[in-house]
Amino acid sequence: MARRIVGVDIGFNILRAAQVRFQRGDHLPIVEKLAERRLPPGVVEYGDVLDGPALVRELAEFWREAGFKSKHIALAASNLHVFAREMAVPVMSAQRIRESLPFMMEGILPVAPDQLYLDFYPVEQHVDETGQSYMGLAVAAERKSIDDMTKCVTDAGLRPMQVDFAPFALMRARGLASKQDEVCAYIDIGAGSSIVIIARGQVPLFVRIIPNGGNDIDDALVFNLKVTNDEAAKIKMDMKEKPKSGDDLHAWDLIQAASTDLLSAVKSTFDYFAQSHAKEPIPLTQVVLSGGGAHTPGITEAIAAISALPVEVDGNVSGVEWAHNLQKAKHKTSDMALAIGLALGRGQDGN
Ligand SMILES: Nc1ncnc2c1ncn2[C@@H]1O[C@H](COP(=O)(O)OP(=O)(O)OP(=O)(O)O)[C@@H](O)[C@H]1O
Ligand SMILES: [Mg+2]
Repeated sequence: MARRIVGVDIGFNILRAAQVRFQRGDHLPIVEKLAERRLPPGVVEYGDVLDGPALVRELAEFWREAGFKSKHIALAASNLHVFAREMAVPVMSAQRIRESLPFMMEGILPVAPDQLYLDFYPVEQHVDETGQSYMGLAVAAERKSIDDMTKCVTDAGLRPMQVDFAPFALMRARGLASKQDEVCAYIDIGAGSSIVIIARGQVPLFVRIIPNGGNDIDDALVFNLKVTNDEAAKIKMDMKEKPKSGDDLHAWDLIQAASTDLLSAVKSTFDYFAQSHAKEPIPLTQVVLSGGGAHTPGITEAIAAISALPVEVDGNVSGVEWAHNLQKAKHKTSDMALAIGLALGRGQDGN
């Protein structure tokens, strides 16, 4: 029987959803519907539910309006409330690893373990004189933000089937590309935060959440040009290339300056990854950008310069088929990659 899952990406003041249908046998999942809905300011910001009842109403209205054929959804743990660290753990069952994580991660957790959901994603198995161990990514997500989000979707009549770590969902949508052996960096530049995930095919090697995004640029334009938030966003979005002179050039310079924090965080992420694999270097082949902030003027060139890699925006989502009415949308997946990846995660689990 066909099963449908809707991946729901609750971003900064926006809901994005992708309905995916899983078919029997070897057939690829089909992306059937993509939809988004702006949330009024003050409902969700930086992954925090600020106004629960309003989010419940908005979700219910979104479902009616978009006409999704399933109430089964997959959610993302919001960006600023999750973190991941590379860690070695002794080889044992996934259940035992999960139970041991609070002790093994003591000292590196930002808050008490009982306030977090913890999980471990093994990447490689090592054998040395002390025995066998998994090298992998330990993921911690703040319970409260996930519980708040889950309560809202449940109150809206939806059934959360899975809460996924946002970077893994992004990788799942992007990393199925034909070149499974290549190591790519996927960077999603949102409004309030950005994700960097380095992966070999579908295997995550490194993850960072950066607390910078498009809002930094809007704030800088508002402050320096004395414009409103909407005007700032328009100035940014209307600018395609470096202006020759005048006010536009001044705005361009402000945008470049406001991108500095994000860019230096991206650079230090690449540097750290290189340093931690200095003995056996893992060369990257490409950077793929997504998120609204990927369209910031000058950002593609700046990331190409700091990474010395080719940078692609709007890479295709691979490993899926597209419904007929989405043939055009399939080349503009930048905004929807995360929602699609969330839905795909649930199907891959075979549940
Ligand atoms: N054409 C464009 N040029 C420049 N910036 C843009 C463009 N379109 C959108 N943005 C910026 O991208 C950001 C929104 O990106 P996105 O929609 O991916 O964020 P989000 O998912 O809502 O946020 P988050 O992931 O942080 O919760 C905003 O800062 C917006 O101004
Ligand atoms: Mg986002």
